[in-house]
Amino acid sequence: MTTNHFEFQRKTGIILALDVTDEENAIRVTEAVADMVDAVKIGYPLVLGTGLQIVSKLSRYAPIIADFKVADIPNTDRLICEHVFKAGCAAIIVQGFTGPDSLAECVKTANEFGGKVFVVSEMSHPGGDYFFTDEISKEIAALAKKSGAFGIVAPATRPERVKELRAVIGADLKIISPGVGAQGGSAADTIKAGADWVIVGRSIYNAADPKAEAEKVKSEIEKLI
Ligand code: C5P
Repeated sequence: MTTNHFEFQRKTGIILALDVTDEENAIRVTEAVADMVDAVKIGYPLVLGTGLQIVSKLSRYAPIIADFKVADIPNTDRLICEHVFKAGCAAIIVQGFTGPDSLAECVKTANEFGGKVFVVSEMSHPGGDYFFTDEISKEIAALAKKSGAFGIVAPATRPERVKELRAVIGADLKIISPGVGAQGGSAADTIKAGADWVIVGRSIYNAADPKAEAEKVKSEIEKLI
C-alpha cells in the first residue's frame, strides 16, 4: 500500500487551482509558483487533458489535491479514491450531498492511504446557491465533520457563508475556499471569515507573470497577520 506523506501545512495560505489542459503549461505554472503555494489542486480539465500520470510530475513541487467532486455510490467512490491516492494525490475533493455512506467510504479509503478528504459544502459560482440553500450547506458541513473529513470547501465569493460554515464545523476541520480573483472573491476577506486556504486559479495561471500574481495574494494574506 502506498502512503502519501502529506503535511497539509499552512505556509502561504494559497492553493493553486491548476485548470490548464496541457502538461507543458501545467509544469511551467507550477514551477513558477511552487514557493508561493501550499498545494496544487487539479481536476478534470488537466487530468482529462494529460492523464493521471501528471500527478507524479507535479507532486515534486507541491502536494496535489484531486478535485473530482466525487459524487457516486460508495463502491464507485471507493474505486475513484483508490486511483487518485495510488497516483500520489494527497487529498481528494468529494461532494457531500451523496449522504453519509458515500462520504464514509471516501474517508475510509483516504485513511487507508494516509490521504485527506475535503467535502464541498457549497459551490462558489452565482448559481451555486440555487439548490444548496444555507441550511443544506450547513447540514453538509456538519456531515463532513461527523464523517471524519479533513475539511470542507466553502465559497470565497460569499465570505459570510465561510463564517457561518466555520461556526458549524468548529476549529478542527480546515476550510479551503475557491472564488478568489477571477470569480471576484477577496483573499483577505475570505481568510478573515475563517478559511485556512484560498484557492486561486485563473488569475494566477492566466497571468503574464504567475509568480508575481501569486506574490500579490500572498502579501494580501500576510498583511492580516
Ligand atoms: O479560476 P478560479 O480561480 O475561479 O478557479 C476556482 C477553482 O475552484 C476551479 O478549479 C473550480 O472548479 C473550483 N471550485 C469552485 N467552487 C467550488 C469548488 C471548486 O470554484 N465550490
